Amino acid sequence: MKYLIGVDLGTSGTKTVLFDSEGNVIASKTVEYPMYQPQNGWAEQDPADWYNAAVETIKYVSSGVDKEDIAGLGISGQMHGLVMLDENNEVIRPSIIWCDQRTGAECEEINRRVGAERLVEITANPAMTGFTAAKILWVRNNEPENYAKCRHILLPKDYVRFKLTGEFATEVSDASGMQLLDIANRCWSDEVLEKLEIDKSMLAKVYESPEVTGGITAEAAALTGLKEGTIVVGGAGDNAAAAVGTGVVTDKKAFTTIGTSGVVFAHTSKMSLDKKGRVHTFCCAVPGAWHVMGVTQAAGLSLKWFRDNFCESEMKTAAEMGVDTYYLTDKEAEKSPIGCNRLIYLPYLMGERTPHLDPDCRGVFFGLSAMHTKRDMIRAVMEGVSYSLRDCLEILREMGVDVSDMTACGGGGSSPLWRSMLADIYNCPIKTAVSKEGPALGVAILAGVGAGLYPSVEEACEKMIRYNAPQEPVSENAAEYDKLYSVYTELYGDLKDTYKKLASI
Ligand code: XUL
Repeated sequence: MKYLIGVDLGTSGTKTVLFDSEGNVIASKTVEYPMYQPQNGWAEQDPADWYNAAVETIKYVSSGVDKEDIAGLGISGQMHGLVMLDENNEVIRPSIIWCDQRTGAECEEINRRVGAERLVEITANPAMTGFTAAKILWVRNNEPENYAKCRHILLPKDYVRFKLTGEFATEVSDASGMQLLDIANRCWSDEVLEKLEIDKSMLAKVYESPEVTGGITAEAAALTGLKEGTIVVGGAGDNAAAAVGTGVVTDKKAFTTIGTSGVVFAHTSKMSLDKKGRVHTFCCAVPGAWHVMGVTQAAGLSLKWFRDNFCESEMKTAAEMGVDTYYLTDKEAEKSPIGCNRLIYLPYLMGERTPHLDPDCRGVFFGLSAMHTKRDMIRAVMEGVSYSLRDCLEILREMGVDVSDMTACGGGGSSPLWRSMLADIYNCPIKTAVSKEGPALGVAILAGVGAGLYPSVEEACEKMIRYNAPQEPVSENAAEYDKLYSVYTELYGDLKDTYKKLASI
């Protein structure tokens, strides 16, 4: 029997899974790490935490099998984060990660240098505060001493790859989120790099996601217990990886994931753009194809924030019962009716991407009354995140992208309550894949293709991904949610200018 390893480098932790070549989970291990917020709207992590977590989890999952039988490893990662290395390949400063919003001025600079329209033509996206290019410029503008030392620029998962293989490599799906890639041609854009005065030699070599990028070094082999030379494939950004792990690799297929961020993702074999830039178009992990996706910055993050700050007693009870706190918060939310007794939550804790592209907006509970209880607030958080995902879906529908075959995944996707909300709020059936391992399975599948166990990503998914029966929408609920969604969509417009005022204080 051959085995494959999928490493999923997330925001709250790294999860590594050992699969057999049919996609069954043999062993799994997660190690968590902190996110630092030195200022409102900033978000940083320590790359050493990612590598240590990868080493510990790889060592754990691979310990029970013969290392000769591990055919390959793939890494999925949180996208957009900036890792800068000096001439000795040492990390220069903490990584500025995807949800950091400090780069408003740099986005204006990018538009000025490249031209807003030309930027969309090449990178398929407008200048984004979360994307890596703006973060690079921020360091150059604000920490010139750090920028002067920089010799290599890597994305989070590509830093871990470098530590495992010694190779400076990336792949098209994650590189798409740097805003330096020519998305149609799947290579670095010389034009954007020249206009932004970023030296191409600092960037990694770009591969397709299932291609082999290198092998485990002797040093990494000693630390992880893997065989020296075990192949490491390109892997993918977390969403492109989740797509492979849920079988979203052909047209018409889409998924919604509720992880720290929330994403509505649709596969497309033809490149398709939203001219207003409200959703992203990226290269996907299937060679020669793309995906379109809308992003809610604080999806699971909203519920985690609520849990961590207001659910101390639920956390205690959950620990005593040996269940996850979210199991108890779901039970509470179920006791509140649709609409939470007229309470609406806007999930803009970290600004918002789709559809507002606004780093300054922030979270709101709208309609609070003395009758409301914690359970209404928990449900409002879940509904608010779901409305924001519907915002993403509406844009894909408007673009004519077929999203009829919808799968739910991520931590939130495993909650039956959250899934039923999505089915009602989207008014479409929502299914789940039998395997819950989304991104980790996705990159393990890519490793299987890279190792030659499968001829293509599509054929591997065909053989390895199975689905549960879909959750159908209930039409009365859908009608009720439509009314609430229409109030939800008005609120941002009402608050837009006031958010700016608050941010300027
Ligand atoms: C995608 C995005 C997030 C991160 C973190 O554009 O920013 O999905 O990858 O999960």
